[in-house]
Amino acid sequence: MSAARQPAHFTRLEDLSDREIEDVLDLAARLKRGVSRAELAGITVGLLFFRPSLRTRTSLEVAMHQLGGHTVNLNAASDFWELEARDARLMDGAAPEHIKDAAAALSCYVGAIAIRPALAGKSWAVDRKDEQIRSWTQHSRVPVINMESALWHPLQALADLMTLRESLGELQGKRLTIAWTQSPTPSSPSVVHSMLMAGLRAGMNVRVAHPPGFDLDEEVLRNARNIAQGRGASLETGMEMKTAAEGSHVIYARSWWSLETYGKASLAAQRGARQGHWCVDDGVMELGQDTRLMHCMPVRRNLEVTDRVLDGPRSLIIDQAANRLPTQKSLLSLLLRNG
Ligand code: CP
Repeated sequence: MSAARQPAHFTRLEDLSDREIEDVLDLAARLKRGVSRAELAGITVGLLFFRPSLRTRTSLEVAMHQLGGHTVNLNAASDFWELEARDARLMDGAAPEHIKDAAAALSCYVGAIAIRPALAGKSWAVDRKDEQIRSWTQHSRVPVINMESALWHPLQALADLMTLRESLGELQGKRLTIAWTQSPTPSSPSVVHSMLMAGLRAGMNVRVAHPPGFDLDEEVLRNARNIAQGRGASLETGMEMKTAAEGSHVIYARSWWSLETYGKASLAAQRGARQGHWCVDDGVMELGQDTRLMHCMPVRRNLEVTDRVLDGPRSLIIDQAANRLPTQKSLLSLLLRNG
């Protein structure tokens, strides 16, 4: 996002080069210290939510307000209708409008369009294509920002990178454990995929702890292994939480669906119930090196992570939430200032 190369969209962390990530984090740090200017006066960002949000919506609204701009918030449940993402379809189904037309129209009013798309939840092979995000990027005439799709949550990754740097300093060679946790309401692996890429690109040695059948997306893992090889970092997956936690500088807790049973609710529930104790507690934290605890929230207390850990001195969860604001202000500022 330097003046020389401004990416059109921000749908995953890979849309930014290492240099651009540095630029975003550097400006975010300056904004957080109070060196802030209202740079986006007169610019409006459209926020389209097809799923609920607490932090992402609030932090983006406040970010634009603090930059002198505005947001327009549209909730699919109440403010507009289903949109067709697939091209060349006979549109005689539920969706009365194509993203192509909605994107072209909204591009006349706003400087960027941020999307949190719906997940059909029937087939991982389908949802992993992030068709809605792709369609918006294809048809929008202004930058599209991904506010969390099936595969990626890049806004969270920027805040998490800033938080990691503030807490650990240099990240190269530090040990990050991503730990699957028990929950009756797991999420897509989007946050974990983005954190995996962010950590490896920063040169961290990453372990992903999860029960059998909860592997991350195959293609994401393949790319992650390539990145690890290129950065001289290590990536190990599929171990028990306690094994993974040994020597870790940070444990990132998160519950995600089994991609093997994705869309098969009763099978997924049975498998989830069988997993036993996948909760980050003092015993897990003590296995690391002054281990920090991260979670993007919402977090189920005493099921995913104990109260003692979440409220303890090594919990970074509120720093992560707080850093959504400066990182998004920075990203929006760099993305839109020339728009
Ligand atoms: N972490 C995160 O994206 O939170 P919300 O779902 O509340 O936006």
